[in-house]
Amino acid sequence: PISTPTTPPATSTTDAYAFAFDIDGVLIRGGEAIPEAIEAMKILNGQNQYGVKIPYIFVTNGGGKSEEERCLDLSRQLHMEVSPGQFICGHTPMREMAERYGTVLVVGGEGEKCRQVAEGYGFKDVCTPGDIIKDNVNTTPFRKLTKDEQEHSRKRNFGEVEIEAVFVFADSRDWAGDQQIILDLLMSKKGRLGTRSETFDEGPPIFFSHNDMVWATSHDHTRLGMGALRASLEAVFKAMTKKEMKSTAFGKPQVGTFQFATRLLQQWRKDVHGIDSPPQTVYFVGDTPESDIRGTNEFNESPLCENTWYSILVRTGVFREGTKPGFTPMATVDNVLEAVKHGIQREV
Ligand code: G3P
Ligand code: MG
Repeated sequence: PISTPTTPPATSTTDAYAFAFDIDGVLIRGGEAIPEAIEAMKILNGQNQYGVKIPYIFVTNGGGKSEEERCLDLSRQLHMEVSPGQFICGHTPMREMAERYGTVLVVGGEGEKCRQVAEGYGFKDVCTPGDIIKDNVNTTPFRKLTKDEQEHSRKRNFGEVEIEAVFVFADSRDWAGDQQIILDLLMSKKGRLGTRSETFDEGPPIFFSHNDMVWATSHDHTRLGMGALRASLEAVFKAMTKKEMKSTAFGKPQVGTFQFATRLLQQWRKDVHGIDSPPQTVYFVGDTPESDIRGTNEFNESPLCENTWYSILVRTGVFREGTKPGFTPMATVDNVLEAVKHGIQREV
């Protein structure tokens, strides 16, 4: 066994390799740790027969909270400390767009959380669907604001506001209402609610924090994700305008996300472990072939990748035995503990 209760305390950190973990379906399902995850983390933190610590980061498509808050959740779930310096979520790269736009619409997540995240990223003027409904209750015939939403939504005259971009930060809690509002904007003249474009090509750009069609939670079967909302919006936009909806998605499998992860890992290894060179191999452990395995493989093959990114698929999430994954991992194992053991065995 790689870990035993009597293993000596870690005395060194390996500079040869590192791990990157997807979260939902690998470490967490439905808000609870996948049992093997806790043991896997102990091994990385040095409780292994080699007495060596192995650096690691987390790269999730999920979001809806600040990176700090997500790390507090993860620390509680995994019984160890997780730092924002080793964490990227779907909307983290949106931080870099804060300067580019003035007024933006932020969609998704619980209550006011995503507005707070966007403001924390430096976005100057952030509206929510709640603000728009508060200004005009006829916007969404079947959605009435709750007492809480009434209290926190910011009323303003949207007839005078130009919304310059739409950002879907986290999963929508109200597909019908949110889609109505997004479509109103995409079909508008330059993001001004109440107007309709004649050409349907002058609305604001729309960005999604990821494109996962489904994800693994506590239900036996996968549940619809943000990619499903995007597909739905594309279909309705086409039906209404006869045009293709243009949009951009961040997150995995985008190569940019893996470049971002490379920089984060480099900084983390330097700041925390004092290692100033890139690892030869990064083991990426994921459960979704279309995001995790595709992204890792494509990054590994791209000229932008300077080392080896090795994809490991687990059987605890979106991917299920009996199906053929759409993208072929370099290894398939039962769970995250087996993934960690697999990586270590390749190195010793
Ligand atoms: O909404 C979250 C989900 O789509 C995926 O999260 O951690 O599996 O990338 P994760
Ligand atoms: Mg996952």
